[in-house]
Amino acid sequence: MMYIQETTREKSDVEKLRGATSKETVEALENKYGESFYLFDLMKLRSNYMEMFSAFTSRYTNFIIGYSYKTNYLPALIKEMYKLGAYAEVVSRLEYDLALKIGVEPKKIIFNGPLKTYDDIALALENGSILNLDSFYEIDLLEDYVYKNAASNYKVGLRVSFDLTGEGSSPHQSGFIQSRFGFCVENGNLEKAIKRLKCIGSIDVIGFHGHFSTKVRSVSIYRKITQKLCDLSKEYLLDTLEYIDVGGGMYGNVPEEMGLKDIPTFDDYAEAICSVINKEKSHFKKDPLLIIEPGLSIVVDTFKFYSKVIDVKKNQEEIFVLVNGSIHNIKPTMHSINLPMEHVKKNGGLYKKGIFNVVGYTCMERDYLAINYQAEIPKPGDFLVFSNVGAYTIVLDPPFIKERPPIIAVEESEFKIVRKREKLNDFINDSIYLFQSFVLVGLPLL
Ligand SMILES: Cc1ncc(COP(=O)(O)O)c(C=O)c1O
Repeated sequence: MMYIQETTREKSDVEKLRGATSKETVEALENKYGESFYLFDLMKLRSNYMEMFSAFTSRYTNFIIGYSYKTNYLPALIKEMYKLGAYAEVVSRLEYDLALKIGVEPKKIIFNGPLKTYDDIALALENGSILNLDSFYEIDLLEDYVYKNAASNYKVGLRVSFDLTGEGSSPHQSGFIQSRFGFCVENGNLEKAIKRLKCIGSIDVIGFHGHFSTKVRSVSIYRKITQKLCDLSKEYLLDTLEYIDVGGGMYGNVPEEMGLKDIPTFDDYAEAICSVINKEKSHFKKDPLLIIEPGLSIVVDTFKFYSKVIDVKKNQEEIFVLVNGSIHNIKPTMHSINLPMEHVKKNGGLYKKGIFNVVGYTCMERDYLAINYQAEIPKPGDFLVFSNVGAYTIVLDPPFIKERPPIIAVEESEFKIVRKREKLNDFINDSIYLFQSFVLVGLPLL
């Protein structure tokens, strides 16, 4: 890769940067919060939620959003989602307890996920949460619970898995040919599960859950999923159906710079899903509750990551801009697509144009926050601001080498810290790690 003085491209990356942040704002934030931090845009979160909610409710009123906690469970964010009216979609007891901790009514928790214990199932049933079973071992646990607590009638949903392969190609992420979750329709497992639950007695299957994480995220996939869930409901749940849950997996706001084409809008998704439900609803005793479980689509554009430029150097002819941040802060899945990046200049003088890489503080060779980026080359002291970093970032950021940065919520023009910068004791907490030296005492041999 060659360093270049001037580019002849029609529109340079830097010209495409939007919503420039003022040098003064960054300076004030740096003085208060340090050389790296996230800004969390509360107004954006609210407008995303409202936009999605009205896209669906304008077409079908019996509708709720179950926000996917795993995508970003910052307490300030999940509290806001609950205030807006979202249910909590959780996939572990830890997430379930987090929802309770922030005050979510247990009836507004959707408990999904492939691994639940007997106690998890008991708690969800006793609390009246929406419980979607994933595998036969959970039916065993449920059976055990029902035998011990036979007085009531219980309601559960089942996660289902079916063939989504269209014209021979798989839409699943990472090229898998099928989903590993739920009860498979084609091999007869779904039918077996329903029969077993009938045999146990005192259990009504009241819903089907069909979340699929696809790489295409297309509206046709959602039409297909919704139609299949309705068809299965007609076949198995005519008398008991209460909800149809089509899961998450939709696109949110995708900036032009990312180069993805034909991104559906919330209205496009709503039209595809609601048109099927509206066509099918008369088959059931009452209009089923339509649930969606968005994560990424609601939060991805609500976070920006700010990191200070520490050094600029050349190795061979390549330019490396070192920032006080890491790939873990912005794309822990380590994909190689460059995110939209804003350059806040804190230096005077001329800036040369060129191609450069932005690299992080870890000792990993692949710690590239941006690769082959073409723009004005930053100088030490400047800030680089990465957008669209609200999904699967802070939940996947490992305690690796350096403490995690603070998160500052922005509302109107006010800044409020919602996660402090970690200190050593948060990073390696002495209430769970043993710090004293110790002598291994052999267990007595029997
Ligand atoms: C069951 C379930 N629901 C919802 C989601 C959210 O998906 P996304 O963030 O792609 O909207 C996930 C993500 O893996 C999931 O597993």
